[in-house]
Amino acid sequence: ALTRQYTFNIKYQNFTRLCHTRSLVTVNGQFPGPRLVAREGDRVLVTVVNHVAENITIHWHGVRQLTSGWADGPAYVTQCPIQTGQAYTYNFTITGQRGTLLWHAHLSWLRSSLYGPIIILPKLNESYPFKKPYKEIPILFGEWFNVDPEAVIAQALQTGAGPNVSDAYTINGLPGPLYNCSAKDTYKLKVKPGKTYLLRLINAALNDELFFSIANHTLTVVEADAVYVKPFDVDTLLISPGQTTNVLLKTKPHFPNATFFMLAGPYFSGQGTFDNSTTAGVLVYKHPSSNNHFPSLKPTLPPFNATAFVANFTMKFRSLASAKFPANVPQIVDRRFFFTVGLGTSPCPKNTTCQGPNNNTKFSASINNVSFVLPSLALLQSYFFGQSNGVFTSDFPQNPATPFNYTGAPPNNTMVSNGTKTVVLTFNTSVELVLQGTSILGAESHPLHLHGFNFFVVGQGFGNYDPNKDPSTFNLADPVERNTAGVPAGGWIAIRFLADNPGVWFMHCHLDIHTSWGLRMAWIVLDGPQPNQKLPPPPSDLPKC
Ligand code: C2O
Repeated sequence: ALTRQYTFNIKYQNFTRLCHTRSLVTVNGQFPGPRLVAREGDRVLVTVVNHVAENITIHWHGVRQLTSGWADGPAYVTQCPIQTGQAYTYNFTITGQRGTLLWHAHLSWLRSSLYGPIIILPKLNESYPFKKPYKEIPILFGEWFNVDPEAVIAQALQTGAGPNVSDAYTINGLPGPLYNCSAKDTYKLKVKPGKTYLLRLINAALNDELFFSIANHTLTVVEADAVYVKPFDVDTLLISPGQTTNVLLKTKPHFPNATFFMLAGPYFSGQGTFDNSTTAGVLVYKHPSSNNHFPSLKPTLPPFNATAFVANFTMKFRSLASAKFPANVPQIVDRRFFFTVGLGTSPCPKNTTCQGPNNNTKFSASINNVSFVLPSLALLQSYFFGQSNGVFTSDFPQNPATPFNYTGAPPNNTMVSNGTKTVVLTFNTSVELVLQGTSILGAESHPLHLHGFNFFVVGQGFGNYDPNKDPSTFNLADPVERNTAGVPAGGWIAIRFLADNPGVWFMHCHLDIHTSWGLRMAWIVLDGPQPNQKLPPPPSDLPKC
């Protein structure tokens, strides 16, 4: 195994899209950011140097971070932010994972311009469980704002209203020809006939789950969140923020007399405004003669509210569950949790007027009605040094205080309660967690992300979860293993994971607006008895608040 060293200089750089020029916060002046490449088993050192006026942290989304929680990155959870002029070296080893993940800023909405691929190659002398692709190509989805997204979220939190939506979706940073003043900013994927390409799809968008399709081409899904899956073919797939999906693209055997659009557009099941636009790139066969005059074929994406399509699609994912890549699904459960996830409201601060959903309220979001408040000191330090007092409590509710009809008419009181509450788990606890979507302010899908672990999605369904009936439908043999999974609009998922990683681990909706509104919480996993089951002390350059 090697040690891979990277330097991420955080600096401003001007970029122009849709005829609007903005100064973006970037890594090394690149947008999207640079690729981080490593092999399974390698140690990775990334020194992040902050040359901009705002605070920064970077998260290595989906990297297990076994006993390296100090390198995980969510601001005020595992670390204080890296302040202007400061540097911090993230130091972690990639253990038991191979595939595609992403890195992104983990403070406020800075992910909008600070994101990039993590490519984990199999160990030397190991191969993919599918035919070696001719080429591998990262495809990153994102969002472009004509105005500063930091101002958008600041304003939304201040007024209590829903935020302004983005102005475009992007493929590898480019909106494409379906937007005004954008035709020249189109991503082109140039291919040869008769080859197999591995596309590493990454959704880094702030607030939107996306459908993706390439005209007249079938995609074979082979991996999700850096875990191999049983291959299956689709014309259109869904990818949620925080998710990564590897697909094989087989090109046509001969030069076709056409070029092919690839489109990405939103899946949105809630109420309110969203960016209902489509980003396009093109798949171009490198024809020996000129192919400028070939027609461009377009795929058809599902309608934006195609919840049944989404449920159908997500149920196709199965772990490989082979001898080489087993699915280690916890068969016995030590602790069961039932969490409701959804939107709600908060009272408006005195002497202000709020433009939230009900008269003079603010939009909020919660888990078991707790809207998580980020502390002003980082949880991991407070926990590690035994200084939780005034920073966090350990009384996160295991169940909703008063059960209600989660998918029915909203209750009279939609107010959330605020707190910095955590759940404490002893080392190696096997956890089953049912995540139940609520329809308090409209039924919306929530891509839930867990730091520090992969989990198995053992069940999913619509309506209210029934503890007497639904467990009999659970798949404990080959459920998909991932780090981000959608809680369906008007339904639930059941996940299982083994708490074998000591530290403090964030869990949140990966739609940034929902995270900002409080749809987040943290698990504390205590040290195990063995030396390699303990969290070591923090590195000396860990930033201070
Ligand atoms: Cu990709 Cu906590 O995030």
